[in-house]
Amino acid sequence: MTGTPKREGRGARDRLIDTEVVRHLATRVLGRSLLIFRSVDSTNDLLRSDAFRNAPAGTVIAAEEQRKGRGRLDRVWEAPLFRALLFSVLVEARGGAAEAALANLVAALAVADAVQDVEGPSLDIRWPNDLVANDRKVCGILSEFRSDRGALVVGIGLNVNQTEEELPPNAASLRTLAGRAFPRVPILAAILNRFEEHLDVLREGGFEPLRARIEARSSLVGRTVTLDLGAGRTLTAPALGIGPSGGLILALPDGPREFLAGEVLRVSV
Ligand code: BTN
Repeated sequence: MTGTPKREGRGARDRLIDTEVVRHLATRVLGRSLLIFRSVDSTNDLLRSDAFRNAPAGTVIAAEEQRKGRGRLDRVWEAPLFRALLFSVLVEARGGAAEAALANLVAALAVADAVQDVEGPSLDIRWPNDLVANDRKVCGILSEFRSDRGALVVGIGLNVNQTEEELPPNAASLRTLAGRAFPRVPILAAILNRFEEHLDVLREGGFEPLRARIEARSSLVGRTVTLDLGAGRTLTAPALGIGPSGGLILALPDGPREFLAGEVLRVSV
């Protein structure tokens, strides 16, 4: 046979392999049932589907590519094959919507901590559940409650090895931030390790010990924020902190108030 064998580009062998992820896991529950697909419509949709009705708590579905990846507010979430981490975790949330909101925020803290564990760039938490660096989005989280199960599907999309050209405007990846590629397996395992650790703290000690850590990583605290409150209402005020219910505390003329939901439209420099 003639011809030059095709050289694989850098990172081309960076595949998610279940046994490799498990080797890095220190969890009891999260990721102990783990499925990795090459291509699915959406890992959130799959984990919420009837096929996974009886999936054990902690089940993780990851994909190398999504055909119909979803973001919050009906946005699409796109990432090229093998470049990002795209996965969903089934988390028990018997406390209902309030516990779900906290689990969501705790997932953001887990991603930031895990990226630091693998010596990646420092990420800030943009309440309620984005991770940013210099106001560029690096990770998005879409949590959807499964009332039939008393469980939450926490979907995480982390930009890992995308190049500048492969990212949407105002986004960054670990690679564009650090100037080097990252193997994704240890990051996935580190996120699951940290997420379980933080969920244990949440269940045993409440939100307070985590609240301070989330606040310390907040990209909003100390800045003036414009919040979309829905129904055409917006509000601009300085952000003071993260409240006991996981909401954003804004300084209003009549005193501080905690907002439990809202979309951040603008942040002052
Ligand atoms: C957002 O910032 O709008 C949330 C993005 C969430 C994307 C992840 S990727 C894995 C999981 N599956 C989906 O379809 N969406 C989430």
